Amino acid sequence: MFLEIKNLKKSFGTQANRTEVLKGIDFSVEKGEICVLLGPSGSGKSTLLNIIGGIDNADEGYIAINGERTVDMNEKSLTRYRRRHLGYVFQMYNLIPNLNVKENIEVGAYLSDRALNINELMKTLGLYEHRNKLPNQLSGGQQQRTAIGRAIVKNPDILLCDEPTGALDYQTSKEILRLIEEVNHRYGNTVIMVTHNDAIKNMADRVVKLRDGQIRKNYVNEEKIAACDLDW
Ligand SMILES: Nc1ncnc2c1ncn2[C@@H]1O[C@H](COP(=O)(O)OP(=O)(O)O)[C@@H](O)[C@H]1O
Ligand SMILES: [Mg+2]
Repeated sequence: MFLEIKNLKKSFGTQANRTEVLKGIDFSVEKGEICVLLGPSGSGKSTLLNIIGGIDNADEGYIAINGERTVDMNEKSLTRYRRRHLGYVFQMYNLIPNLNVKENIEVGAYLSDRALNINELMKTLGLYEHRNKLPNQLSGGQQQRTAIGRAIVKNPDILLCDEPTGALDYQTSKEILRLIEEVNHRYGNTVIMVTHNDAIKNMADRVVKLRDGQIRKNYVNEEKIAACDLDW
């Protein structure tokens, strides 16, 4: 088992205002899988992803990667875990505005001791001819491709994507999903992608459905289809 999520619980607020956002989450993801985490807005998807990403802590339960629990790691190992194992792609891209495409991707490479070749990666992502542009000179799709580049350049074991197509139109969304699929195929990174778009589950190897902080479904998708054939 590559990534194990065990009895994860998380609440926000204090006393009377306390709400339990994750109520005991259990699932695991195999190496190289695309796992789509599906659920309506407010169901706890981002909270779960942030805990997997080591950005937030759980109240109970644990995450283990290759059998090593992140709760048992000290600050230094946790930092190494984030650097080595995790790449993060957000809905709103979060690029550095005064750095160009290439430099934004270099930020990701800088944190790694096994970075991919940046020029090659920019070609894969269709960004090479845009490499000297600043984020505000790019379309939404190009900005998201740059964000994928920044996350993937360090060749992380796990690529976490939080609503990566949430701000994009239909055609551009499909193009981004196709790229995530290609990255998974080419570099073998495990992908955990959060979405509220039901159609996206069809490109997954594993589908985990979340509602009100609980898992409602967790299954292997036997009829996986290519991202370019998705329709919604
Ligand atoms: N830092 C926080 N403080 C208080 N409440 C939060 C915090 N983060 C998330 N929540 C609440 O937890 C619930 C789940 O949020 P979230 O994980 O962002 O859901 P999703 O990503 O599925 O839309 C929401 O009701 C949200 O308001
Ligand atoms: Mg969210």
